[in-house]
Amino acid sequence: MAQIFERSSNALARMSLVLTGLIVIALGVTLNELQRSPWVTRQGQRPDQPVPFSHKHHVQGLGLQCQYCHTTVEKSSYAGIPPTKTCMNCHAQIWTNAQLLEPVRTSWASGESLKWTKVHDLPDYAYFNHSVHVAKGVGCASCHGRVDQMPLMYAQNTLQMEWCLDCHRNPAKNLRPAGEIYNMAWEKPAEDRPVWCAVGDEKSGVPTAQSVNCVTKEPSGAGAQVALLQMPLGSTHGLAGDGPAGVMPVAPVYKKFTSQDELGHFLVDHYKIRTPKDLTSCEVCHR
Ligand code: HEC
Ligand code: HEC
Ligand code: HEC
Ligand code: HEC
Ligand code: HEC
Repeated sequence: MAQIFERSSNALARMSLVLTGLIVIALGVTLNELQRSPWVTRQGQRPDQPVPFSHKHHVQGLGLQCQYCHTTVEKSSYAGIPPTKTCMNCHAQIWTNAQLLEPVRTSWASGESLKWTKVHDLPDYAYFNHSVHVAKGVGCASCHGRVDQMPLMYAQNTLQMEWCLDCHRNPAKNLRPAGEIYNMAWEKPAEDRPVWCAVGDEKSGVPTAQSVNCVTKEPSGAGAQVALLQMPLGSTHGLAGDGPAGVMPVAPVYKKFTSQDELGHFLVDHYKIRTPKDLTSCEVCHR
C-alpha cells in the first residue's frame, strides 16, 4: 500500500500536537490572568465622577469623620453615599462659585441626586455586610486602604472571593480595638508601640469590639493591677481576714500587647469570632 504521508509528516504531526497543547495552556493562563487583572476587577481604577470629590481634602485636610458622610456604615449592610444636602452643609457657604461644584449646585436646585459611579461593586450573589465587620473590629483601612490619602477614590483591593477568604481564614491578623476602626493611620502593635486592653463587661448577646477597651498609652496603675493578678491568691495574706477572699480589683485589669499576633488572638477570643471553618463555609456569603 502506498504511503500517503511522508515519513517527515510524523514529526510534523507530533509537533503540531505539542504546539496546540501549548496554545491551549497559554490561553488558559491568559484568561485566568485576565479574570484577575485590574482591567476586570477595576482594582486601582479611578472612574469618571460628576464631581472630582477628594477624600484627601475632606478627610485628611478638614478632619471629617467617615460617618459624617457614610452614615449607615455601623448600622446596616451598606455604608451609603451621602446626599447632595451633606455637601451643601458647607458648599452653600464656601467655594460657592467654583466651577468644579457646578454639578452639586445643579443637583441641589433640581432635587436630582448626583450620579456617582460605583468604585466597589460585588455581584448580587455574594452577600456582604458592613455593620458586622465594623462591630467585630475590622477597620475601614483594612479593606479600603488609606482613603484619607486618596485625591480620587479607587479600589485598593480586588474584592474577589479569594481576598475575602484570606481574611476569614485568619481574622486575627486584621482585628483592632473598637476605638481604632476609623483610624486610617492605625498600625499593629509592636515592641515600641504597645497596646493595653481590658475586658469590659461583656453585655448580653454576642460580644462586639465594644466589649474590649484598649488604650495606646500605659493606663495609670495598670502595672500594679497586673502584678496583683499575677500574685498567687495565698500571698495576699496581708489582707487575709480584712474581707472575703479573692476580691478582685474594681478597676479594669489591662493586659499589654506588643504584637498583632498576641492582640489578634486575644480579640478573637473576646469578640467571640467564629472559627475559620465556620467563616469560610459557602453559606456565609452565598445565601
Ligand atoms: C464629605 C463627605 C465624605 C467623607 C467625610 C467621607 N466620604 Fe467616602 N465618599 C464620599 C462620596 C461623595 C463618595 C462617592 C464619590 C467617590 O467615589 O469618590 C465616597 C465614596 C467612598 C468609597 C467608595 C464607594 C464606592 O463607590 O465603592 C469608599 C470606600 C469611601 N468613600 C470610604 C470612606 C472612608 C473610609 C472615609 C473616612 C476615612 C470616608 N469615605 C469619608 C463622601 C465622603
Ligand atoms: C465640612 C464642610 C464640607 C463638606 C461637608 C463638603 N465639603 Fe467640599 N470642600 C470643603 C472645603 C473647606 C473645601 C476647600 C478645600 C481646600 O481647597 O482646601 C472643599 C473643596 C471641595 C472641592 C474642590 C476640590 C477640592 O477637593 O479641593 C470639591 C469638588 C468638593 N469640595 C466637593 C464636595 C462634595 C461633592 C461634597 C459632598 C459629598 C463636599 N464637598 C462636602 C468643605 C466641605
Ligand atoms: C471587610 C471589608 C470592609 C470593611 C472593613 C469596610 N468595607 Fe466598605 N466596602 C466593602 C465592600 C466589599 C464593598 C462593596 C459592597 C457591595 O458592592 O455590595 C464596600 C463598599 C463601601 C462603600 C460604597 C457604598 C456601599 O455602601 O456599598 C462605602 C462608602 C464604604 N464601603 C465605606 C466604608 C467605611 C466608611 C468603612 C469603615 C467604617 C468600611 N467601608 C469598611 C468592604 C469593606
Ligand atoms: C480583613 C478581614 C476581612 C475581610 C477582608 C472580609 N471579612 Fe467578612 N468577616 C470578617 C470578620 C472578623 C467577621 C466576623 C466574624 C464573626 O463574627 O464570627 C466577618 C463576617 C462576615 C460575614 C458574616 C455575617 C453574619 O452575620 O453572618 C459575612 C457574610 C462576610 N464576612 C462576608 C465577607 C465578604 C463577602 C468579604 C469580601 C468581599 C469579606 N467578608 C471580607 C473579616 C473580614
Ligand atoms: C467570605 C465570603 C465567601 C465565602 C465564604 C465563599 N465565597 Fe464564593 N464568592 C465570594 C465573593 C465576594 C464572590 C465574587 C467574586 C468576584 O466578584 O470576583 C464569590 C464568587 C463565587 C463564585 C463565582 C466564580 C468566582 O470564583 O468568582 C463561585 C462559583 C463561588 N463563589 C463559590 C463558592 C463556594 C463553593 C464556596 C464554599 C466553598 C464559597 N464560594 C464561599 C465570597 C465568598
